[in-house]
Amino acid sequence: MNNFEFYNPTRIVFGEGKVAELNRLVPKNAKVLILFGGESARKTGTLDEVEHALGDREFGLFGGIEANPRYETLIKTVDKIEQEGFDFLLAVGGGSVIDGTKFVAAAVNYPGDKWEVVTSGGTTIKTALPFGTVLTLPATGSEMNKGSVITRTELQSKLAFMSDKVFPQFSILDPVKTYTLPPSQISNGVVDAFVHIVEQYLTYPVNANVQDVFAEGLLKTLIEIGPKALETPKDYDIRANLMWTATLALNGLIGAGVPQDWSTHMLGHEITVLYGLDHAQTLAIVLPSMLIEKLPQKQAKLAQYAEQVWGISQGTEKEKALKAIELTREFFEKMQVGTRFIDYNLTQDVIEPLVKSLEVHNMVTLGEHQDITPEVSRRVYMAAL
Ligand code: NZQ
Ligand code: ZN
Repeated sequence: MNNFEFYNPTRIVFGEGKVAELNRLVPKNAKVLILFGGESARKTGTLDEVEHALGDREFGLFGGIEANPRYETLIKTVDKIEQEGFDFLLAVGGGSVIDGTKFVAAAVNYPGDKWEVVTSGGTTIKTALPFGTVLTLPATGSEMNKGSVITRTELQSKLAFMSDKVFPQFSILDPVKTYTLPPSQISNGVVDAFVHIVEQYLTYPVNANVQDVFAEGLLKTLIEIGPKALETPKDYDIRANLMWTATLALNGLIGAGVPQDWSTHMLGHEITVLYGLDHAQTLAIVLPSMLIEKLPQKQAKLAQYAEQVWGISQGTEKEKALKAIELTREFFEKMQVGTRFIDYNLTQDVIEPLVKSLEVHNMVTLGEHQDITPEVSRRVYMAAL
């Protein structure tokens, strides 16, 4: 096992009706800014519930944070917060609202160019406003991690930053809040969480037994409950398991002490920024081709994945690995997420712009061996046509 430091200060408050706990969790004298996305939080009644739970605390609202949250939108609220003195942020929504809130929390009172919060990868963040979240979409794990992904449309950039300062203080996870999600967002959430686990598990063996078994358990859970979450949308236990699995997939636990990949995410971000696909759709396109491209380096772990997750016991290591990749693609398709560019009407002419965009963003040595050059990425994209 590799050396590691594990730190995660986020309190999770899980279960039906837990939004009411905001009264206990938010400081009594806080001046709260509630951040949310489009219309869903209002339509589903969650926003009313949140406002009610805040009691007589003073609060303001900032709506309109879009999927793949944009710097251009978020920056508008930073000035407002500095001028009006809000001292606690509350994100109500999915990963985009939470990521956007993390950016806002770090950008308030940040000296100089606030875009540097993102371009520095988070390393220049010295302070951030405290914030909590009410999660409405199980997918990203942002509710219990220190990462955020922000898009700056005018620069065609979708970039991640990380900082210990942007862990949520608490996150409320009420599975009932997911009942209103359209099937496509459930599908996205299952695929995104699945790929988060894979990015931390499918590298090379380092004798990290617990991390491996945890990862395999989370993957098996998603394979079992993913389709059921589509078939029976109001099954509390299914939604509860999905919500907690997605959180555990990216809260740092299974990634501690193991090599990590993240190349599928980086290639995927370029597809979103240039062609507007949902985050999970891009991952479903890239991952199967990436695993085939990196088969020689990942073969041992892929064979373990085949055996432990898919129950494949026959064949050589390579045969097992290939079969597991095929089943992974079938699983995404079963979740109704297309795994090829053509499923989204994208053809060969997207490849060069995508490779160029990777180069512009310096995504030129990706993967657990830092050997995924633009040349390799081009092959991966090509294989996904
Ligand atoms: O905008 P509204 O109207 O709220 O609608 C949202 C949005 O259109 C809707 N929605 C959310 N909860 C709902 C609901 N609709 C009905 N009922 C509910 N309960 O769902 C749509 C998608 O929401 P979004 O927050 O964009 O989805 P998701 O949670 O998948 O977040 C995706 C973003 O997270 C980033 C992605 O890159 C992408 O920008 N990621 C963040 C990570 C992190 N911070 O660790 C890791 C991930 O890899 C990922 O990159
Ligand atoms: Zn993701």
